[in-house]
Amino acid sequence: MLNIILFGPPGSGKGTQSDLIVEKYKLKHLSTGDILRDEIKKESELGKIAETYITQGNLVPDKMIIDILLNKIDNDQNDYNGIILDGFPRTLVQAEALEEILNKHNKKISVLIEINIDDEALIERVLTRGKTSGRADDNIETMKKRLNIYKTQSTPACEFYKKLNKYAAIDGLGTIDEVFGRISTIIDSKL
Ligand code: AP5
Ligand code: MG
Repeated sequence: MLNIILFGPPGSGKGTQSDLIVEKYKLKHLSTGDILRDEIKKESELGKIAETYITQGNLVPDKMIIDILLNKIDNDQNDYNGIILDGFPRTLVQAEALEEILNKHNKKISVLIEINIDDEALIERVLTRGKTSGRADDNIETMKKRLNIYKTQSTPACEFYKKLNKYAAIDGLGTIDEVFGRISTIIDSKL
């Protein structure tokens, strides 16, 4: 089983690279951001609550997101070679909860891959996407907040996997294929 965490700041290419990883390695893609946006579109109770956090660039409360993940991981995954987690965990509490959930299922994380990229490039990407994405958080004010939250609240989740010796980092600048090549090298070393 290959269970991979794709970690990185907003706009670093987690979603883009996840699609390529899913295709090549036949993993199940779990993006908490996509799940929340679906709930917002459906106008569910969960979606209504999530929207207030997302539009402000804040993280949704840990308990809410952990419950969502628990439900997804509990579902049958026999058709897949593993999972790719995109946007989860992004706090230390979430990382600890994930370990517990996976242990319960006799599964483990193979590696956390951090995509490193400078703020200037991230802001440019997200503002460009914002012209067509319709995402309420793709604007300069919210983006600055998201970057700040990444550095303060999400970095501890990354440190957690460094301590477990399950951490790798790549340079996220370059073409989509170049970045994918770097990610593939790491994944191949875990096969
Ligand atoms: P989420 O949806 O996870 O957003 P994010 O982490 O801010 O990241 P993005 O989706 O904006 O970027 P990405 O890294 O996927 O990059 P992409 O491939 O799209 O979370 C949104 C919100 O939901 C959070 O702020 C929070 O409120 C909530 N949330 C989600 N998970 C949560 C959790 N676990 N706990 C609490 N709250 C949570 O690429 C970006 C752009 O760049 C695209 O236009 C793409 O085409 C382009 N691009 C990609 N690669 C390249 C390249 N190599 N060169 C040039 N352009 C590129
Ligand atoms: Mg994304």
